[in-house]
Amino acid sequence: MTVNDVLTVHGGTPLHGRIRVRGAKNLISKAMVAALLGDAPSRLYDVPRIRDVEVVRGLLELHGVRVSDGAEDGELVLDPANVASATSDEINVHAGSSRIPILFCGPLLHRLGHAFIPDLGGCHIGPRPIDFHIQALRQFGALVDKAPEGMHLTAPNGLHGTKLELPYPSVGATEQVLLTAVMAEGVTELRNAAVEPEIIDLICVLQKMGAIIKVHTDRVIEIQGVPRLGGYTHRPIPDRIEAASWAAAALATGGDIEVLGAEQVDMMTFLNVFRSVGGAYEVTDMRPPRAGSPGQEGKIRFWHPGGELKAVALETDVHPGFMTDWQQPLVVALTQARGLSIVHETVYEQRLGYTEALNSMGATIQVYRDCLGGTPCRFGRRDFKHSAVIAGPSKLHAADLVIPDLRAGFSHLIAALAAEGTSRVYGVDLINRGYEDFEAKLAALGAHAERA
Ligand code: EPU
Repeated sequence: MTVNDVLTVHGGTPLHGRIRVRGAKNLISKAMVAALLGDAPSRLYDVPRIRDVEVVRGLLELHGVRVSDGAEDGELVLDPANVASATSDEINVHAGSSRIPILFCGPLLHRLGHAFIPDLGGCHIGPRPIDFHIQALRQFGALVDKAPEGMHLTAPNGLHGTKLELPYPSVGATEQVLLTAVMAEGVTELRNAAVEPEIIDLICVLQKMGAIIKVHTDRVIEIQGVPRLGGYTHRPIPDRIEAASWAAAALATGGDIEVLGAEQVDMMTFLNVFRSVGGAYEVTDMRPPRAGSPGQEGKIRFWHPGGELKAVALETDVHPGFMTDWQQPLVVALTQARGLSIVHETVYEQRLGYTEALNSMGATIQVYRDCLGGTPCRFGRRDFKHSAVIAGPSKLHAADLVIPDLRAGFSHLIAALAAEGTSRVYGVDLINRGYEDFEAKLAALGAHAERA
C-alpha cells in the first residue's frame, strides 16, 4: 500500500447518475487465456481497463502472444503465432497477483509440452485450494511437480480425454477442464461442472475457435477433443458483479443509478433479492440497430424508492443461486433494512470477515459457525464463521477502513458513501483489480471523494 493509496470519502450523499459496465472480468481473463490455444489471432471486445486484464496480458506476452489494442475502445487482438517458453524467473514476476495463471496449464501443455505456474494470488477469502485442478490435470495425463517457487508441469505422453467428477462445482476447475479437454485426444466427460454464465460464455468462445462441447442437463459437460483450434471474435457478457455492486450502492445511499450495459438474464436471482429488500429497478432491453432505427443499449436502472427497506434471508450458492460476489455489497444495504437479515455463505468458508469493519461504523452484524436459515452446507461441520445476522436499520458513521479484498473493498466503499461524515479508505487500489475507472464513476455519480 502506498501513501496515495487512500481515498477520503465524504459520505451521506445519495449516488445519482449513470455509469457503464463492460465485459465480465471473470470471463475476459479466461477468454484471453483461450487465445493461446488457437493457431490464428483472436479479437476480444469490451475489455475493461482493470488490473486482472493487465496481469493476464503480461503473462501472455511473456509466452510470445502478441497483444495489441484494436481500433475500437476496449478491443484487444491476441496473436499466438509465436508462442514460446518463458523462464520461471520471468513468470514469477506475476506471482501472487491473480488466480488466473493456474488456467495456463492446459493451453501451455498443448502448445509447448510443459508449463510453469507461479504462486497464485487473488483475493484473500479463505484457503482457496487448487486440489481439483491438479487432480483433473493428472487425469488428463499431466505430470505435476509442486516446488516451493511454483508448479512445473509436463505431459510426456500427451493429454487424453477422461471422465471426471468435481467434488464441488468449482468455476476455476471447470474452466481448467474445458481449456485442457478441447485439444486433448478423445472425449472428456465432466460431471458436477459449474455452469455460471461466464463459463457458458467461455464455451461460446471455445466453440468459435472450433471446439466441440456439449452442455447436458444436470451439470454434465462433454468435450470432444480436436487436433487444432483457430482464433475467435467475441463480445463478452457484461459484468454482472459490477452491475450488482452499483445497484447495492444505489440502495445503500438512497440513490438512483442507471447501469448501462447491464443485462437482466444473468442477474435474475439478484433482481429478485433486490426487489424483496425494497429496491426498485427498471430493465431496458438492448435493441440492435435496424434499417431506419439506430438501436439501443441495454441497461438497468436501480433506485431506492423511499420508505423502509425490508430484511431478507439469503444463501449464496453456485449458479443459478445468489452469487457469493454479490453478497458483500448487498450486506451494506441490508444494514439499512428493518429487522433481522440472514446471510448464509456457502461458497467460501471465510467471506464474512469484512463485517467487522461495518460494525466499526455502527452496523450490528453477528457472525455464526452454524448454517443459518437454509440447508446445511460443507462448512457447517468445519467450524467456519460463515453465516451472518444483520440487525437494522443502523445509522452508519464514518471510520478509517482498510480494504481486505476486492468485493469486500467495494462494500467498504459503499459503507463510507452511505455513512455520515468523512471516512478514510486505505488500500483502494485493490478495487482497480475488478472495477474499471471506479473513481471516475464515483465522481460521475456525484460522490464526494478524493485521494489522500
Ligand atoms: N475449491 C476447492 N478446490 C479447488 C477449487 C475450488 O476446494 O481446487 C473450492 C473453493 O475453495 C471454494 C469453492 O470451491 O470454496 C468455489 O471456488 P471456485 O473454484 O468456484 O472459485 P474460483 O474459480 O477460484 C471464481 C471467481 C470468483 C468467484 C468464484 C465463485 C474468477 C477469477 N474468480 O473463483 O470471483 O467468487 O468463482 O463464483 O473467475 C471475484 O471476482 O472477486 C472473485 C473472487
